[in-house]
Amino acid sequence: MKSVELRQKFLKYFEDKQHKIIPSASLVPDESVELAGTQRVLFTTAGMHPLVPYLLGQPHPEGQRLANIQRCLRTDDIDEVGDSVHNTFFEMLGNWSIGDPKSTDGIGKNGYWKKEAISWSYEFLINQLKLDAKRIYVSVFAGDSDAPFDQDSYDIWRSLGMPEDHIFKYPKLDNWWGPVGKNGPCGPDTEMFYDVKGNFLEGGEPATDSERFVEIWNDVFMEFDKQADGSYIPLKQKNVDTGMGLERILCVLQNAQSIYETDVFLPLMKRIEDLSENFNTKSARIIADHIRSAVFLISDGITPSNVERGYILRRLIRRAIRHASLSGINQDFLKELSMQVIKTYASFYPKLDEFRETIFDQLQKEEQKFKTALARGLKEFEKIQGKILAQNAFNLYQNFGFPIELTIELATEKGKSIDVKGFEDLLVKHQKLSRSMSQKTKGGLLVQSDQAAKLHTATHLLHQSLRDVLGYHVRQTGSHITDERLRFDFSHTGKLTSEQIRKVESIINRKIKDNLKVHKKTLPKQAADEIGAIGLFNQKYGDLVNIYYIGQSDNINSAYSKEFCGGPHADSTGQLGRFKILKEESTGSNIRRIYATIGK
Ligand code: ALA
Repeated sequence: MKSVELRQKFLKYFEDKQHKIIPSASLVPDESVELAGTQRVLFTTAGMHPLVPYLLGQPHPEGQRLANIQRCLRTDDIDEVGDSVHNTFFEMLGNWSIGDPKSTDGIGKNGYWKKEAISWSYEFLINQLKLDAKRIYVSVFAGDSDAPFDQDSYDIWRSLGMPEDHIFKYPKLDNWWGPVGKNGPCGPDTEMFYDVKGNFLEGGEPATDSERFVEIWNDVFMEFDKQADGSYIPLKQKNVDTGMGLERILCVLQNAQSIYETDVFLPLMKRIEDLSENFNTKSARIIADHIRSAVFLISDGITPSNVERGYILRRLIRRAIRHASLSGINQDFLKELSMQVIKTYASFYPKLDEFRETIFDQLQKEEQKFKTALARGLKEFEKIQGKILAQNAFNLYQNFGFPIELTIELATEKGKSIDVKGFEDLLVKHQKLSRSMSQKTKGGLLVQSDQAAKLHTATHLLHQSLRDVLGYHVRQTGSHITDERLRFDFSHTGKLTSEQIRKVESIINRKIKDNLKVHKKTLPKQAADEIGAIGLFNQKYGDLVNIYYIGQSDNINSAYSKEFCGGPHADSTGQLGRFKILKEESTGSNIRRIYATIGK
């Protein structure tokens, strides 16, 4: 079965079970996820991530049964990419029940709980994907001092005919999912594994033999809200969160030895092989993985830079270029390979096509920049005698654009030791990467205050006023709110003049003085598009969306700002106090960043 058919089958199956199909959210998490009180993470790392506000109790406009295919990015294992299982970008097939688990028979639109979730997962695997029931193994949560043994899931599996010796009981380390970051919704899960060897040998189990038992699906029963202090309290509502990694299940369905041999990667791998004069599998996989991630990141508005998300993107592109040079790819290759990625994915992610020129442009610019630097930098690297000192690594970073990870990789290849800690100290001293470093260890702020909600409202006013003053090409590419200030990234070429800054401030302060009301409305997507709501970009799925609008009356048509959003917001603009832009700067090509504050 090919990826296209798998996606269709999955969505159709849950649509038939009264689930609404919702679009994949951006790889860049929305403010509402952070403002719901979860810890800040740079990227969407699981299907449930964009749904956090709803898992915490806010009603979802599409109802209680949802399903989608969510694009995700995890960079924790980036150095592992190149073996047969690790990748950075992936798609997650998921179905959700949000709150109120009334349904006991699976009928209707109400929320559901363990019985429905488990039996549907199982039925999908057996009847739709035609997996061999004898090769399916499962695990359930064994229980500990925070939460009891998940007897219900155990009994449900038994009632479905799962033999006792195919059910394993594991502790939190294996059978508990979440929260994303340090706090938030989480709970026990039941995982499904497929015996890919299928030789039914005695012994071995999922926890210890990941080569034989490939995890294919995870049903999470979210009933706890982990607190910042580490304790678990019951969540206001019970939710089901399931996730099936698309690449993993494709491997099983296509009997592939690695994800790189499934249909989402094969044409790309073939192109890399054709281009390589000195082909090696590991480098080819790294190139394929990193290009795919880079294409998706750029289409979600990220540009290469030295901070945060832009830095991760830069790292991915530069590492791909370096492995291309190791493989003897001597011409520019990023555009050609990104075209292949777009071809593979555009039917499901039309945005890739829409942004193809931006994707080529960003990749090629970075390619030119880094190729020149790489050749010179490698010579510089060769000159280093013995251990790589902090100053050597910093020189490579600052003068040759070498991400520290690249220098570490080179050092490892040559068996040299390297002073990474010293390098980081130097960076902090030079006040360069300090911010991105701290965010990469995910030590973000928790914002859940009224002040943050007000700054969020100010962010909407800023977005609209920038469009008024600079033009309708302005599009949000990132946003981050703390209790002190807002930060807003948007597409625009060139520095803002002081006249433009003054104009933006004055429009916003006028709107604050007018004390406009902030309203929320659930609308069909097309209607929202027609009235010009911002934030809806070429989404294939999803009928109903939440729009926050700011206006004199509750008439949405005449509202000043209309934006697709999950909240929270102030009730009215009068609560904001005076708006002020603190700083305007560039964060990469064609992306500007504004820091602003209110209430001073
Ligand atoms: N959120 C769960 C996971 O990512 C389903 O595995």
